[in-house]
Amino acid sequence: MKNYLSINDIDSLPKLVEEAKNLKKNPKANVALGANKTIGLLFFNNSLRTRLSTQKAATNLGLEVMVMNFGNEGWALEYEDGTIMNQGTSEHIKEAAQVVSQYCDIIGIRAFAGLTDKEKDKAEVVLNGFKEYASVPILNMESSVGHPLQGLADAITIDENKTKKRPKVVLSWAPHPKALPHAVANSFIEMMQLQDAEFVLTHPKGYELDPKITNGVTIENNQEKALENADFVSVKNWSSYANYGKVLNQDESWMMTKEKLGKAKFMHCLPVRRNVVVNDAVLDSEQSIVIQQANNRTYAAQIVLKKILENL
Ligand code: CP
Repeated sequence: MKNYLSINDIDSLPKLVEEAKNLKKNPKANVALGANKTIGLLFFNNSLRTRLSTQKAATNLGLEVMVMNFGNEGWALEYEDGTIMNQGTSEHIKEAAQVVSQYCDIIGIRAFAGLTDKEKDKAEVVLNGFKEYASVPILNMESSVGHPLQGLADAITIDENKTKKRPKVVLSWAPHPKALPHAVANSFIEMMQLQDAEFVLTHPKGYELDPKITNGVTIENNQEKALENADFVSVKNWSSYANYGKVLNQDESWMMTKEKLGKAKFMHCLPVRRNVVVNDAVLDSEQSIVIQQANNRTYAAQIVLKKILENL
C-alpha cells in the first residue's frame, strides 16, 4: 500500500479485516518492522481515538511517533498556487510538506471539512496538498470527505460480531445540535459496498449525501422500515450536503432508542452526545459495541501502517 487516503486504497477488504484480526491477537508481532522509522501525526482538528489509537498502532510496529496539533500550534498554511502571501497565511504547503517529509517516513493528516465551501472541501486541499508535495506516504486520519480508518475499524467490528454470512446493516442519520461533516458516513457507505451485507441507508429528506457516494445504495427515508430485522445499526449525524453544511432540523424522533434498535448491535464512531443521538439505555446495554469499535481503531491503523511500511 502506497498511501491510505480513502477506502479505495483497500485491495481486498475481507483479507485486510482477517489480517487486522490476526494482528489483534499478537499486536507486537511486527515490532521490528518500524525500527529506525518515524511517523508524524499532524492534527488540524481535535481527536481522542484517532490520536491515541494511531500512536498505539505505530508503537506496536516499532515506529517513533511525533504528534503536532497543527491547527493551533503550526503556522497557518497557504494552499493556493501563486498567492501573494501578504494576508493571514505564513507558510506554503509546498515548503511545509517537503520539510515534514525530511523528519518523517509516513505522515498522518487530520483535517476536517470547513462546511462553508463545498468545492474547497471536495478538493481536500490539506490532504491532497500533503499528498502532492510530501515525498513520503500519507495516512488519512479523517479528511473533508472521508474517514477510512474509521470505516476499516467498523468493518473489523462487524466481522467480529456477525452471526450470519450476509448481515443486514443500517446506517441511520440522527439529530445533533451542530453542523457535522459527511466524512464518517461517506467512508462507512464506501466500506459497505465492499462488504457481503444487505445495506440500507436511512435519513430524513434533505440529508441526502453526495450522490457519487450513495450511487446504487438502498435509501429508505422511513427509519422504522429501514431498521426492520437489522443485525447492525450504525448511527451518525451529518449536515445537509445539498444545502451545504446546514442543520435543517434536529428531529428528536430520529434519536436511536432500545425499542427502535430491536435485536441489532449498536454502532457509533464516537464521540457521541447521549440522549441526543442515542439514549442511555442503548449505550449502556450489551447491544452497544461502540467500545469494541473504538478498540478496533488501533488494529485498523496498525494493519494499514504495516502495509505501508512493507512497501517502503
Ligand atoms: N471516531 C473518531 O475519529 O474519534 P476522534 O475524533 O476522537 O479521533
